Amino acid sequence: MSTTVQVSAERSYAVVIGRDLLAEIVPLTEGATRAGVIFQPSVQDVARRVGAILERAGIDVVPVEVPDAEGSKTAEVAGRCWSALGAAGFTRNDVVVGIGGGAVTDLAGFIAATWLRGVRCILVPTSVLAMVDAAIGGKTGINTREGKNLVGVFSSPVGVLCDVTTLSDLPRAEIVSGLAEVVKVGLTSDATIVADLLVRTSDALDVEGDLLPDLIRRAVQVKADVVGADFREVGGANGAIGREALNYGHTLGHAIEHCEDYTWRHGNAVAVGLMFAGQLAFLGGRLDAEGVETHRAVLDAVGLPRTYRRDAWPALLEAMSLDKKSRGTTLRFVVLDGLQNPTIWRAPEQDLLVAAYDAISA
Ligand code: GLY
Repeated sequence: MSTTVQVSAERSYAVVIGRDLLAEIVPLTEGATRAGVIFQPSVQDVARRVGAILERAGIDVVPVEVPDAEGSKTAEVAGRCWSALGAAGFTRNDVVVGIGGGAVTDLAGFIAATWLRGVRCILVPTSVLAMVDAAIGGKTGINTREGKNLVGVFSSPVGVLCDVTTLSDLPRAEIVSGLAEVVKVGLTSDATIVADLLVRTSDALDVEGDLLPDLIRRAVQVKADVVGADFREVGGANGAIGREALNYGHTLGHAIEHCEDYTWRHGNAVAVGLMFAGQLAFLGGRLDAEGVETHRAVLDAVGLPRTYRRDAWPALLEAMSLDKKSRGTTLRFVVLDGLQNPTIWRAPEQDLLVAAYDAISA
């Protein structure tokens, strides 16, 4: 059983969510002679299965193994991928397939978008985070020494296959961390997600059950709607917040990742950022006490962190000021004017920021 969410942004493509659906890759490769399969070592079994399916369909498979996690998003690794495609005689008709977590889907999307100025890309995300966020919406890129995602392009895949059986071998902490992005869309857009995470928490964490794929589907639907309305993150129609709403919790979250030298899982840092943004909106009179309590309760239910070191504030403030999302010198936060009503708050007063941090620091 699988379900499909259609994304209509730049081009229209299907995100298929379900079990044992890797064979659905074949129609997406129509007309291709070669497939460059970019994968990380931890999912080599999935890559082998996808490779066998493609070979049975008469496609020459060019496997390109890249490092796990952020280690894959470098200019050096991108260079190796381009060389592999070049050596295999890759043409415009051929396809790139990215198999792995968010770092690998970002890298594969970037390689596909830049090879011959753009070839088809198919993504097979293998983490909750990649399924609900990284692989959807066409943000692709690599990191430089100066920061994350500084080099990249907006380029949509031709299809995304979220096979939840690929989550079975992941540590529970990885599933929990990925759910931070699901919590995020629940708080910004879909109250039913929050309700299910609060009431049916153990089902939500069960990779064999039906609730997790359904939560993934609903989170993908939110993301599809948002990127459909504002693909390039320039803002929605009539002043609507648009794609920037997806950055809820990320301003402080990115700063925490920076201060932890990227050793923290992304979702864990975002979770603390969600709590901070909730407190900030409360102190600014935008969100009521019940709304803040919902942040605390849902993060606790899922098992995500919501506090950070008290002494870290100066370093976090500096990192937030440097974040590319701050746009110029003005700090800007996505906050909620009530649950499921995200908006931008430019340059909140310093004493409110300090008080919000005080409320989440331990
Ligand atoms: N991860 C945020 C976005 O895709 O816009």
